[in-house]
Order: sequence, then C-alpha cells, then structure tokens
Amino acid sequence: MCGIVGYVGEQQALEVVLGGLRRLEYRGYDSAGVAILSGSDLLVERKAGKLANLEKAISEKELAGTLGIGHTRWATHGPPTDRNAHPHQDCAGKVAVVHNGTIENFEVLVRGLEERGHARRSDTDTEVVAHLVEERYDGDLAATVRSICKDLEGSFVLVVAHQDEPDLVVAARRNLPLVIGLGDGENFVGSDVTAFIAHTREARAVDQDQVVEVRRSGVVVTDLGGTVVDGETYHVDWDTAAAEKGGHEFFMLKEIEEQPAAVRETLGGRMQEDGLLHLDELSMSDDDIRQIEQVVIIACGSSYHSGLVGKYAIERWCRLPVQVEMASEFRYRDPVVGRSTLVIAISQSGETADTLEALRHARAQKAWVLAVTNTVGSTVSREADAVFYTRGGPEVAVASTKAVMAQLAAVYVVGLYLAQVRGTRDTDEVRAHLADLLEMPDLIQEVLDRMGPVRQLARELQDAERVLFLGRHVGYPMALEGALKLKELAYISAEGFPAGEIKHGPIALIEEGTPVVVLAPRHALQAKLVNNVQEVRARGARTIVIATDGDESVTPYADTVIRIPDTKSLLTPLLTIVPMQVLSAEIARARGLDVDQPRNLAKSVTVE
Ligand code: F6R
Repeated sequence: MCGIVGYVGEQQALEVVLGGLRRLEYRGYDSAGVAILSGSDLLVERKAGKLANLEKAISEKELAGTLGIGHTRWATHGPPTDRNAHPHQDCAGKVAVVHNGTIENFEVLVRGLEERGHARRSDTDTEVVAHLVEERYDGDLAATVRSICKDLEGSFVLVVAHQDEPDLVVAARRNLPLVIGLGDGENFVGSDVTAFIAHTREARAVDQDQVVEVRRSGVVVTDLGGTVVDGETYHVDWDTAAAEKGGHEFFMLKEIEEQPAAVRETLGGRMQEDGLLHLDELSMSDDDIRQIEQVVIIACGSSYHSGLVGKYAIERWCRLPVQVEMASEFRYRDPVVGRSTLVIAISQSGETADTLEALRHARAQKAWVLAVTNTVGSTVSREADAVFYTRGGPEVAVASTKAVMAQLAAVYVVGLYLAQVRGTRDTDEVRAHLADLLEMPDLIQEVLDRMGPVRQLARELQDAERVLFLGRHVGYPMALEGALKLKELAYISAEGFPAGEIKHGPIALIEEGTPVVVLAPRHALQAKLVNNVQEVRARGARTIVIATDGDESVTPYADTVIRIPDTKSLLTPLLTIVPMQVLSAEIARARGLDVDQPRNLAKSVTVE
C-alpha cells in the first residue's frame, strides 16, 4: 500500500515521477505528492485525493528539475488530507521523504524530536524521518538514512531527497517492496517495476534492510552497516502497452478482455512434446513430490478463492488432503505443517503482508513453500522455496480479474503435475485434462463475446440492495468470488454460499425481487442445483442462472439465463467467473463509480 517512486537522470523528473505514480496509483489513492529538486530548491507539492487533483494543482506551476520523488497514499496514520500527504519535510524544508509502511515506534521518536525543538506539521509517522535526517545529516545522506533505519521499528520503504544532494536519491527497505530500475544515465526506484517500465526494463530487487544510493551514473546498494552488497538484475518482459488502458474506459474492462491471453501465457511452455507437464520451477525432485502428505494453500481475497478451486482439483487428481487457509489466520492458529507439507502461497502482487507472514511461518516449520504469483521479483517470490509465475501480465485495476484467471489456470497445472508425478492419474488422463485446459482460452473468449445481455442485466440490477450468489462444488468458490467482486466494485451487500447451505439460514435473506445468481453449469450436482433455484424462486428471488449451452433443466425457474459453453465440470470456474466480473464492473459503472479504484481499497495490501 502506498506507491513510491524516485528518479535521478537527464529527463524532467516531474514527468517521469508523475508517469510512475499514474501506474502505481492502484496502491492507494488517498493523496499524492512530489518533490522536485529545482536548482538548489527542493519544491514540494502535495494534494489530498487522487493523483488527478495533484496534477490539476501543479498544472500552472514551474517544477523543473531532473531529480524527483513521488508518492501515492493509502492512509494509515492521519486522515487523507493535504497536510498528511507525502512528501514530508523537516523544519528547514531541505529534506523530502516519501514512505510506504508504518513506523511502529514513531510516537517515541516524535516525543524526542519535539523535546529537541522540532515542530510537527502532520499527523503521520513518516514525518519523523525528515526531522531525523535534518538532525543527523552531515554531508552523507546514505549514511544518515542507514543510521535512521537502525532506529526505526516496523515496515517501511523510504525514499529521501536532500536539497544539498543534486545527484542522489536514497531509498531504504524493510518488509515492503522496493525495486531498482537501471537506465542509461538515469536510474529509478519504485514500489514495483511499473513505476519505471516506460523507461527501462532492467530491474534489480532490494533485500531486507538494504539502502540504495541512486545517482545518474549508477546505483549502489549497501546493508545497514554500509557494506556494499551484490544483487541480481533481471529483465522485465511486461511492455508499456500492457500497463495502459488501450482504448477502454477502465483498466478492469481491458483486463477482463485480456483473460484468454492470460490463460494462454500461464499454460504456455509448460507442456512437453509428449503432451505431459514439465515443471522444473517447482524445484522438487520426483521423490520429494511423492513424499508430500498434505497440501496447504494460503492466500487472501480473490487469490484465496483460486486456492479453493485448487483444493477441488488437487484432491480429485492427486488424492492428497488439501486445506485452504486465509493467510491472515494461518499462523495465529499454530497450524500443523512440516517437512511433508507442500504449502502453496498464492498472491497476485507477491507483496500481501498476510500471505508473506504465513509463508514465513510455513517455512519456519520446514514446509516446502511454492509461491504462485504474477509478479517477478516480488517478496513472496524471493522468500519461497520455489516459484510458479502465473504470467498474467500487469494488472492495474484494484479488483483482480485476469490475475485470478491466471491463478486458476496455475492451480490446475500444478495439480495435474503432482498427479502426473505421483502416478495418481495415468498419463493418458493427464494428457486429456491438459488438452481440455488448452481449449479454455478459446472458450473464455466465447463467453466474453456474449456479454451484451449481462451489460443489460447490470443496468436492471444497479439499484439492488443485496445480491446472493450460490454454487456447488467448484461453483462455491466462484460464488464467493462473484460476491466479493460485487461488494468491492459496486458497494452492494453481496454474499456467496454453497447452494446446499442456504436452507440452513441464508434463505431468510430472500425477499420479493432479491437477485440470486446461481452458478449452475452442467455437472454431477446439476439436479440438486435445479432444486436450489426452485427453492429461492419460490421465496420471491429474481433468479439469474449461469448455465451450460443447451441445458434446459434450469430454464423454467430462471428469470435470466446466462449461457456458457460446455466444458469439464472441474474447469467451469474459468468460464463462470467471467459473467460475474462483467456484471460487477457494469453495475459499478451504471452507479457512476470508479471501477478501477474502489473506495477504501488498495491493490497491494502490505499491512497486516
Ligand atoms: C479482490 C482482490 C483482493 C486480492 C487480495 C490478495 O478483487 O483483488 O481480494 O485478491 O488482496 O492480493 P494478492 O493476490 O496480491 O495477494
């Protein structure tokens, strides 16, 4: 949460920094600000609200200079006002600091600073760093930041500029993401690679408790003791176009359209010529795989829903017990994991604090942790024992769509690979399932091509107060996902249930006209689902049924039928998810809401 960017080079820093902030705005949009070193003056501009407010406020101002830092905020300490917007400054206005994270001991530090005569100008924890730089700076900004980091508790990424340092931006990292962008005569730091992807694709990750000195001529990384440390650079494949809206009104609508490609990318290159899987990336020998006794999947939000689908697939194909745990709960209940446990940590961003802490806990218990993530170089990818990259491409909209789709494809692939190696499915069956998976991008496209009636339905449902989603088997996690999407995008109270559960309580929520979306693609539980549709309709529900082409069993009880093509029942989430995404986005649009940046949310949730 919070996006940060820093730049030193030959270009006008304001443009570079604002460009980075535009791409990082998904990380928080409570306020935005920049500091530009203009001649010998450090000019700071900041504004509450979205980045557009800041851009408007500075449109008439002269902010020329080739060194700059910027911030987009998701508020933690202090309300989202101009006064609390970053960058924060010291008393003399010579230092500017942007920060992602929370400084847990800031109150103690504030008291000391006030006793020593510093005046506080914001309610933030961040401001202490600016004053500490003011006190300790003696001509070596990197050494100053190193010394301050030793006194800070909590999680932080800091980026600091000083008026007396015309060729230096200093950044530091603990627990939160920071990436270096390596250019030619210019260098960058950012919360993720999208901060500088328009300028360079060469990146370097920063490790825990490291400080980065960014100059035009190069970058030096040290530990807190000042010793220079090496690090690996990597090339980022994502292109700039993928991080632009491409003619769509919202990123989310574009990202929904990109889902066939996301699944193709996730599957691509993972199959051998003999039609079987080849997953070196698991870094596990066949013997290790055969010794797995249980699988535990940890994730949050939509990624958790992908994990639930993974449970159905892995249990079916591998005959292994699978638990799926919300990462935020995992480590606090003393879970039983050990050497024979495969833990799969699913995270689009690879930076979710809950997932990261759960991963660390699992590793400490000696479990083998496989990260399934979309983000190369993310903390989760670096701390796990092995990584399966989902290759969904950059996802900018806060609500996850194509990344979830890619995760679903990933859990199927991992499940089939485990079955292949453990011999719980014979090779012909694995080949057949893979062949089915390879058809999914075209089928997803077919669903996308039929979304006209769903858009119409969105207009009809835009004033609904409550919507229920029902599913069975793999339809249940997708019912949860449908409800989550509607809540977060349209602010409509929505809940997902296993269809068989509603008679145990939730059916009381149904009134005349309550919309109930039932995921009823053709599968073994079809007859039971048809009963559930009848039950809710008998209580006055407006039934919206997602059904397979040609299946007429539900039509007598459905007020609206949304058709999807036929596929194997285990793979139906890849299709049923699409109309629910479109429905939520279109309802939000009809209600005049910001589809890409729903209120109170941030894409990368780096606080516990
Ligand atoms: C919902 C959504 C969130 C994320 C969750 C986990 O649309 O995007 O629920 O799925 O915050 O994020 P990652 O996958 O980055 O760990």
